[in-house]
Amino acid sequence: MGGSEDGPVLVVDFGAQYAQLIARRVREAHVYSEIVPHTSTAAELTARRPAGIILSGGPKSVNEHPAPQIDPAIYDTGIPILGICYGAQLIAQQLGGEVARTGRGEYGRTPLSVTGTSPLFVDWPAHVEVWMSHGDAITSVPAGFVATADSPDAPVAAFHDERRSIYGVQFHPEVVHTERGTDLFERFLYDVCRCPPSWTHTSIIEQQVDAVRAQVGTSPVLCALSGGVDSAVAAAVVHKAVGDQLTCVYVDTGLMRANESEQVEETFRRQFHIDLVHVKAADRFFEALAGVTDPEGKRKIIGELFIRIFEEVARDLVIEDLGADGDGEGTDGGDDEPAGYLVQGTLYPDVIESGSDSAATIKSHHNVGGLPEDLAFDLVEPLRLLFKDEVRAVGEELGLPHDIVWRQPFPGPGLAVRIVGEVTPERADILRAADAIVVEEVRRAGLYRDLWQSFAVLPAVRTVGVMGDGRTYAYPIVIRAVTSDDAMTADWARLPYDLLERLSSRIINEVEGVNRVALDITSKPPGTIEWE
Ligand code: XMP
Repeated sequence: MGGSEDGPVLVVDFGAQYAQLIARRVREAHVYSEIVPHTSTAAELTARRPAGIILSGGPKSVNEHPAPQIDPAIYDTGIPILGICYGAQLIAQQLGGEVARTGRGEYGRTPLSVTGTSPLFVDWPAHVEVWMSHGDAITSVPAGFVATADSPDAPVAAFHDERRSIYGVQFHPEVVHTERGTDLFERFLYDVCRCPPSWTHTSIIEQQVDAVRAQVGTSPVLCALSGGVDSAVAAAVVHKAVGDQLTCVYVDTGLMRANESEQVEETFRRQFHIDLVHVKAADRFFEALAGVTDPEGKRKIIGELFIRIFEEVARDLVIEDLGADGDGEGTDGGDDEPAGYLVQGTLYPDVIESGSDSAATIKSHHNVGGLPEDLAFDLVEPLRLLFKDEVRAVGEELGLPHDIVWRQPFPGPGLAVRIVGEVTPERADILRAADAIVVEEVRRAGLYRDLWQSFAVLPAVRTVGVMGDGRTYAYPIVIRAVTSDDAMTADWARLPYDLLERLSSRIINEVEGVNRVALDITSKPPGTIEWE
């Protein structure tokens, strides 16, 4: 499947995160791209009928042994190829040029001098700033190639063979610090590969809607809504595809954010007219969590209970459906047909990380992990080819509210991982009230979208304070706000003092049971983002 009629642009992954960023840039230019491993053979790559191939950067040196290679037969396919950094060095080396360990690498912003004409450098000035990250340098180009740019420590910073349609750049056009980086991708995609810019949010939705319809036919479809953006957008896409066949299940664990349940009801039931089963299960969760203080123990209890509840609802729905169908054989009557489908908000990075685009692994964290096999659900994953920013754009296009589309990530076990010690209804209420103030003030300060996450944490200690004439002995609230790209690493956010002051005074004044506010200034590593 591809946005262009000629098939996708394939981004060959040589390690690290370079390939993902390149694939995103290609899609931002409205051309469909997919990431493929460098071990793919030329036959496998050409079978995808790609409009172009981009060889990504990578952490290795082409002079290391073993260094990741690409099947050199791709150079004879006539498919346009763009090598970036490691990819460029690999082209140079495999086709008979020279890549030397010069001992003088370039890292960060670097001046580039354009020394020749290139279809990739249309209307470029003689000097532009680019982002470099290399130790080795290409010192001579292969036969048939011309060098078109250099930089202080890269004698060949760009080269190509127009006849074979093979291009290489030492710098990183995918990095925002490279001036004209977007322009370079557009020239490669539109002029060299001749891709039409047809991968738009509307086309994404159309394709996914068609795919969902083709997959599920007339079977019932279930979706567990968590209140997060992925499950919400997945549900909206599936609803557009199959309407009433979709039933959403929202389990209120009592550990949700303030107003979350109302918002889910409002959006899905009233705005989208989706059949929504709202399970109010707070009592069951608090009962199961009573007396439990071990973080993993809490996670496990919440995960298992969630699955049990979801299973109860799913069984009821499937049985109802079978009853209506009357054949007792599943909704389509055949033995091999699944009883129904289950929507998962799997995203493209999950697919890449799982190492295989055919592995339909259910996300391990709690949401809907480990549903019993006898329910015989097949997975519907309408977002499995999309990056997070595309999911958000699709959500907006489908009319989901901003609040849901731009929501910061929220852990499956909910507020429980932010309540140190025992999780009780009273303590959940304290945290929920403090958290709502954090969200409200961070939004008001215009920082909500810049922060990866910002929330309140409730520790298990109490401290002494004075309020009015009296001495208090109450909980502190810890404010946790981080910046991050992917939650793998994170930095504590430098929140403005006046915001911190407002948070402190509002939380202490408005949340009963709190008499102190502290700020968590730990990055990840060594800390984690959540407290438990
Ligand atoms: P940590 O705390 O490990 O969190 O730095 C990294 C990211 O994952 C989220 N998180 C979870 N998400 N179930 C989830 O669905 C969980 O059990 C869970 N624990 C942490 C966390 O909010 C952060 O975005």
